[in-house]
Amino acid sequence: MSNQQQTLHTYLELVNRYPSPHNGQPIRLKPLAEGRFEVYFERSRGLQLSEISYIFSFVSMGVFMRHLALCAEALGHSLDYELSLPKVTELRGEGPVRFAMATLQWDVGTADEALHKALQFRQTSRKKYHQGVTDEVAAAVVELAAKVHMKLTRLSAPQAKQAVWLNQRAVFDDMFDEPVRLELDHWLRYSQAEKQAKRDGLSYDCMELNGRSMKWIVAHPKILRAPGISWLLKQYYLRTMTDSSDVFYMLAPFRTERQSFDVGLTIMDMWTQISAQGYYLHPFGTIMSNQAAHRDFLELAGVHDESLAENYLVFIFRAGTSAPPVPSLRLDYTQHLLMEES
Ligand SMILES: Cc1cc2nc3c(=O)[nH]c(=O)nc-3n(C[C@H](O)[C@H](O)[C@H](O)COP(=O)(O)O)c2cc1C
Repeated sequence: MSNQQQTLHTYLELVNRYPSPHNGQPIRLKPLAEGRFEVYFERSRGLQLSEISYIFSFVSMGVFMRHLALCAEALGHSLDYELSLPKVTELRGEGPVRFAMATLQWDVGTADEALHKALQFRQTSRKKYHQGVTDEVAAAVVELAAKVHMKLTRLSAPQAKQAVWLNQRAVFDDMFDEPVRLELDHWLRYSQAEKQAKRDGLSYDCMELNGRSMKWIVAHPKILRAPGISWLLKQYYLRTMTDSSDVFYMLAPFRTERQSFDVGLTIMDMWTQISAQGYYLHPFGTIMSNQAAHRDFLELAGVHDESLAENYLVFIFRAGTSAPPVPSLRLDYTQHLLMEES
C-alpha cells in the first residue's frame, strides 16, 4: 500500500464507524479526482415509514457529515463540503441520492489524538448505566446546543424514570403497528451468524436481548399484552434501562431539510463531546416517532408550545457510564461505503 492509499484507508476505517438509525449505514462516497468525493444517501437504507421518518433522514446526513469532518480533524486532514440537499419528497423509493460534495486536503494540520480516541470510543450503550454525567459535562453539551440555537435540557431524576418507562411503552406499542414492526424485523439481527453475515442492522446482543426470544416476540407480538407474561417481559426489557443515567431532550427548528440536517450536526457534536469524557449515550428515538409517546413526553417535560418552525422535539437520550457495549458491526468500507471511482 502506498502512503497515500494508507492515509485514505485509515481515514475511511474511522469514517465507517459513523452512527446511523438501526445501523442502516445509508451513506456512500463516490471518489472523484483530487480528494473530492460525492456523498450519497442510499434511500433503501434509511427509515421509510412516515413523513417524519423521511425528514429524519436529513438528521442522518448531518450526523454523517459532521462525523466525516471530525474524522478529518482527528487525523490532521481538513474537509470542506458543499450541500445539495434533495427535497424530502425525493427520499421515497430506492437508490442513491446525492446530497453533498466533500473535498479533503490530506495532512494539512496536526492530528488531534484526543478527538481520535473519542471517535473510537463512541458507541451506543444499551447497558445499565452506573451513573450519569457530571454537571460540567451536562453544562458543556447544553451550551454546545445553545450556540446553534437548539435547546438541550436535562430531566430531573423522577422525570428521567418516567421517560424510560415511556420509551419502553413506545417500543412495545410499536410492535402492534404493522409497518413499524415489519421495518424493525427487516433490521433486527437475531443470531450471531446473521449478525456476522449481514454486518448491518440492530443485533440482539447490542440490544442486550436474547436473540431467540426477540425473534419469537417480533413474530408473535400479542404476547406483549398477555396477562402476567406482559409484566415479566417489561421487567426483562427494563432491567438495563432503570438506572442512574441522565436523560436529556433537545428542541430545535425542524421544518426544512436544512434545519433537520443541522440537528444531525449538533447530535454528532454532542455525542463526540460526551464520548470524549468517557460517557456513553443511548438515543430514545421511539419516543419521538411514536405519536402517543411523543405527546406524553412533551407533557412530562412541560413543553406546551412545540412547533416545527421553532422548537420541535428532535432528540432524546440517556447518557452516563456503563460497561463497554457489545460492538455493532459495519459492512467493509471497500464493499459499501466507498462506491466505484468515476
Ligand atoms: C439519529 C439516530 C437515531 C438513533 N435512534 C436510536 C434509537 O431510537 N434507539 C436505539 O437503541 N439506538 C438508536 N440509535 C443508535 C443506532 O442504532 C446506532 O448508532 C447504530 O446501531 C450503530 O451502533 P454504534 O452507535 O454503537 O456504533 C440512533 C442513532 C442515530 C444516529
